Amino acid sequence: MDLKRKAGEKAAKYVEDGMIVGLGTGSTAYWAILKLGELVADGLNIKGIPTSKNTEELAQKLGIPMLKMSEVNKIDVAIDGADEATANFALIKGGGGALLREKMIASIAKQFIVVIDPSKYVERLGQFPLPVEIITFGWEITSSQISLLGCKPILRRGNQAPFVTDNGNYIVDCYFDSIVDRDGMNTALNSIPGVVENGLFVDMADVLIIGRENGDAEVLS
Ligand code: A5P
Repeated sequence: MDLKRKAGEKAAKYVEDGMIVGLGTGSTAYWAILKLGELVADGLNIKGIPTSKNTEELAQKLGIPMLKMSEVNKIDVAIDGADEATANFALIKGGGGALLREKMIASIAKQFIVVIDPSKYVERLGQFPLPVEIITFGWEITSSQISLLGCKPILRRGNQAPFVTDNGNYIVDCYFDSIVDRDGMNTALNSIPGVVENGLFVDMADVLIIGRENGDAEVLS
């Protein structure tokens, strides 16, 4: 079985009747959402909070009832993928461009479950360029201020035009050699005027599920 699928389906087991569930974005969270769709069709009563417009569409198609972010003040469990994850659960997210809503939702989830395949499990963060969401106004200035933190920021593009997030912002993908002080970097990035949010998720994940070739998905908590 696809390793992303193994991880995603395992995470769906954490969802219980009556829960409010954060629905992640990307090709691994996809499998968890698909499984939840099946369970809902079989009678599971949950409400989803999508982390992106793509996920909202998927959940709608699957018949998963949804709430708006403004309608909740807590989420029981959020399930999402990651671009990199370490043994102490530090993450880089945002490869799919949904990092802002993902972080907001994870931050109010009682339990945040991260689903990955083994290629995402790394010793140190930073091989994957760190996505940073910035406002379009004066983005060049914001980007050059970000570069002073020791990276090379590249404006993300899609179809020749800049990629625009669900929130109407741009993303710069920031190439660091490695990110050692994750907390410090998170704070430094978010202190730059024009930065909306960055893809470092530190001390947020509670459970890490890794799809493994042999046997069941591995659960770290
Ligand atoms: C979306 O913005 C991201 O944070 C995804 O969760 C992350 O890129 C992992 O995606 P895949 O599961 O598709 O690799």
